[in-house]
Amino acid sequence: MSVLVTGGTGYIGSHTVVDLLNNNYDVVIVDNYVNSKPEVLNRIKTITGKMPKFYEVDCCDENAFRKVFEKENITDVIHFAGLKSVGESVQKPGLYYSNNIGSTLTLLKLMHEFDVNNLVFSSSATVYGVPDHVPLKEDDPIGGCTNPYGETKLDIEYILKYETSMCSKMNVAILRYFNPIGAHKSGLIGEDPQGIPNNLMPYITQVAVGKREHLNVFGNDYHTVDGTGVRDYIHVVDLAAGHLAALRKLTEKPGLVIFNLGTGKGTSVLELVTAFENANNIKIPYVICPRRPGDVDENYADASKAFKEMGWEAKLNIVDACRDSWNWQKNNPKGYDK
Ligand code: WQD
Repeated sequence: MSVLVTGGTGYIGSHTVVDLLNNNYDVVIVDNYVNSKPEVLNRIKTITGKMPKFYEVDCCDENAFRKVFEKENITDVIHFAGLKSVGESVQKPGLYYSNNIGSTLTLLKLMHEFDVNNLVFSSSATVYGVPDHVPLKEDDPIGGCTNPYGETKLDIEYILKYETSMCSKMNVAILRYFNPIGAHKSGLIGEDPQGIPNNLMPYITQVAVGKREHLNVFGNDYHTVDGTGVRDYIHVVDLAAGHLAALRKLTEKPGLVIFNLGTGKGTSVLELVTAFENANNIKIPYVICPRRPGDVDENYADASKAFKEMGWEAKLNIVDACRDSWNWQKNNPKGYDK
């Protein structure tokens, strides 16, 4: 009885694998290392004392992926694998559609072939597009995504809705993440973006470690508390716990369920910078720059449904995340590279 974790050596995937192993699940990881490193497996072993089964496979490669289902007794799937750079998706929309949607269609085909009926899908708050109000609830309108990355998440949600409506045996939990930050308290695993970080927190930690000269703040003329973008920053350890809560929810055979995974609180760019500086006693120099295309003013969750229906809520806060993100970065100034 194993949980198959696609993309399990990635940032959120690796934190979820640690939580699964610590809760005595058997784990099989499938990953092609497009945005991660083999060293992550060693770190997972160091943290948990267990080495998960691993297959270096591209989820779009049906024949190779089928061999995993043939060899392993898979009962549940958590599907993280996918390209996730908003900026890159604008440059390479075709790659994002073929990879993110193609890998999911291949996974679904194999799940049906091997009668695997429980799926937790890694979606994103970006499916809400440009929200006309906050906080966002799961039944708020979706669509109007501002980039192909978000469109792929939206399209996959539609595919999963049809799948569960046509196959009564399938149970699917769609988890809409807000903004994951932080790292495991050991500092052994964390966010390791390739090249220039797209996201705010890894850029801040690279400034703190001296890899970047200053932070570029993309716009201070938004309709927010201080003019900078407001987001719902959720600690990745809380996010991982949300996946185990979803697995438990699927044992109730709920069909299709959708949950926002966020803290329910909005934090501006400058508020996050200040929290990081105070938590770690480090100055983060920044420069105000023009807005980044596609950014929205505010985006944060109403996470009450996840608490009501799964008993899950975020337990860690912004200060914990700033401390843990820095602990990871200062102990791994080059990420997983030596
Ligand atoms: C946050 C805020 C920026 C970088 C995206 C995806 C979402 C999820 C998380 C994958 C914004 C500002 C950022 C910088 C800045 N991805 N910023 N300087 O865009 O809210 O969400 O990443 O799961 O699906 O949409 O996250 O961290 O890029 O930006 O000022 O160098 O920080 O303008 O206000 P975003 P982000």
